[in-house]
Parts: sequence; structure tokens; C-alpha cells
Amino acid sequence: MASAAGHILQVKDLVAGYIRDLPILHGVSVYVDRGEIVTIIGPNGAGKSTLIKAVAGLVSVSQGSIELNGKNIVNVPAYQRATQGVGYVPQTGNVFTTLSIHENLIMGGASLHRGKAERRIEELYEIYPVLKSRRREKAGVLSGGQRQILAVARALLTQPDLILLDEPTAGLSPKAAAELFALIRDLSGDGVAVLIVEQNAKAALRNSDRGYVLAEGENRIDGAAHTLLADKEIGEIFLGMRRDTPLEKEEA
Ligand SMILES: Nc1ncnc2c1ncn2[C@@H]1O[C@H](COP(=O)(O)OP(=O)(O)OP(=O)(O)O)[C@@H](O)[C@H]1O
Ligand SMILES: [Mg+2]
Repeated sequence: MASAAGHILQVKDLVAGYIRDLPILHGVSVYVDRGEIVTIIGPNGAGKSTLIKAVAGLVSVSQGSIELNGKNIVNVPAYQRATQGVGYVPQTGNVFTTLSIHENLIMGGASLHRGKAERRIEELYEIYPVLKSRRREKAGVLSGGQRQILAVARALLTQPDLILLDEPTAGLSPKAAAELFALIRDLSGDGVAVLIVEQNAKAALRNSDRGYVLAEGENRIDGAAHTLLADKEIGEIFLGMRRDTPLEKEEA
């Protein structure tokens, strides 16, 4: 659990990338508090997924820190971060399509004792009944929205303090995206800290407390989600929209 005053996640001055001496992130800083939904937006290639992967432990960090509940986890391997409170739902390939829904959930609980994992799966079936009713079916037959619910549920097996979602609504219908955002808001209501990367900046910010705009591996703008939605510069410069039109006024 978080200390009363501290952030659940605090990334400070992070320099990270895939190849030695060729950083993608050039000193990025973000934080997420308990129960907060924070969205990262920015153009393609800005480093949004790289930032999420750095927090999950999947890219190498050369400078800066990543604190989870006040403890620097930069040197903690990815599989241990998962058991220490970080849930990660990647941008693509986030379910095993040839395994059943139930088997996918069991995979998410691999680090738990078997009895504990089974109890957690039953709890998640109560929260997400669509998964329970289709538990024997292969994940590959699920709709896009149901797949994302499964991917999120799997990340929740270990009861993370922080969940990282990379483009969770990509490819979903507006209705399925709205359902997923409702699920995400429920998670934050339960105290989970949520960090989302989204292409759908407007919908994401409307469902968020705060946001950060990244460009070229650097922080550009951050603030309350409603402030970013009203900011004319963001739509114009970073998201390639019409001049002088704040995000909140853009057509979907
Ligand atoms: N596995 C990798 N190996 C080397 N470079 C990579 C790798 N993945 C991404 N990159 C590079 O890192 C930079 C940032 O990519 P990243 O995926 O973080 O961007 P993004 O903001 O998530 O973009 P998108 O909106 O397209 O998902 C890009 O220049 C990309 O080519
Ligand atoms: Mg990405």
C-alpha cells in the first residue's frame, strides 16, 4: 500500500530506450496517485509505449528513477514488478487467443498460490460476468471489447496498486470503448492507480483526472484533464487537428 502522502508511481527524469546510447525517453517525469486515472497522449513515436514498458520493466533505463510506493524499482526485473504491484496490459497481443478464457486467467495468476489464484478468478468472474459465462471458450472468439476486459482482468489477478494500459480502446466501437472506460473508472474507485496511453485523446481525457502530453521523448504539457481538453495548443501542435480548436470541441 502507498504511504499516506506519497504517490503510488513516481517516474523522475527517466532516460530509457531499446538500444545502448540511443535513448527514446530523454528525462521524462510523471506521477500517479492512488485512485487516480492519468492519461499520456502525444503523436505516434513520442515514446508513450516506451514509458509504459519502462514502468513494467521491459526496456532498459540508463538514468532517472521509477518509484512504486516510494521504493525505486528500476533494478527490479519485470516478473517481480508484477508481484510487487504493477499490472501491465500491453498494446497488442495481450491475450492468448488459443487458450480458453479460464486458462488465460490462470496464466495471470501464475505467481500466486493455486488456491489464492482460484479465489481471485472467482471474484473476477463476479465482477465481469461475461468472462464467467464464456470461461470455456477460446479467447480468440471474443469480441475486441471482451478481449480487453479479459486482458484487464488478467492483470488484476495479482491485485496491483498500479495498472498500466497501453491503448486499451484501440479498435473498439465507441460503445465498447465507453464500457471499458466505465470499468477503468470502477478500478480507480477501488483505489487502483491507473496509467493509460491512448490515441483517443479526447475520450481518454474525459475519463481521466490528469494528463501528460509527450513529444519526442520529452514532457511537453501536463495538467488537469479538463484543462488539457480546453487547451488549443494540444490539438494544434501535437495531435494534428485544426488550428485553434481545443480537443473538447473537435468532432470525434
Ligand atoms: N522494440 C523496439 N526497438 C527499437 N526501437 C523501438 C522499439 N519499439 C519502439 N521503438 C522506437 O521508439 C520510439 C518510440 O516508440 P513508442 O512505441 O514508445 O511510441 P508511441 O508513442 O507509443 O507511438 P504509437 O502512438 O505509434 O504507439 C520510436 O521511434 C520507435 O521506433
Ligand atoms: Mg504506442
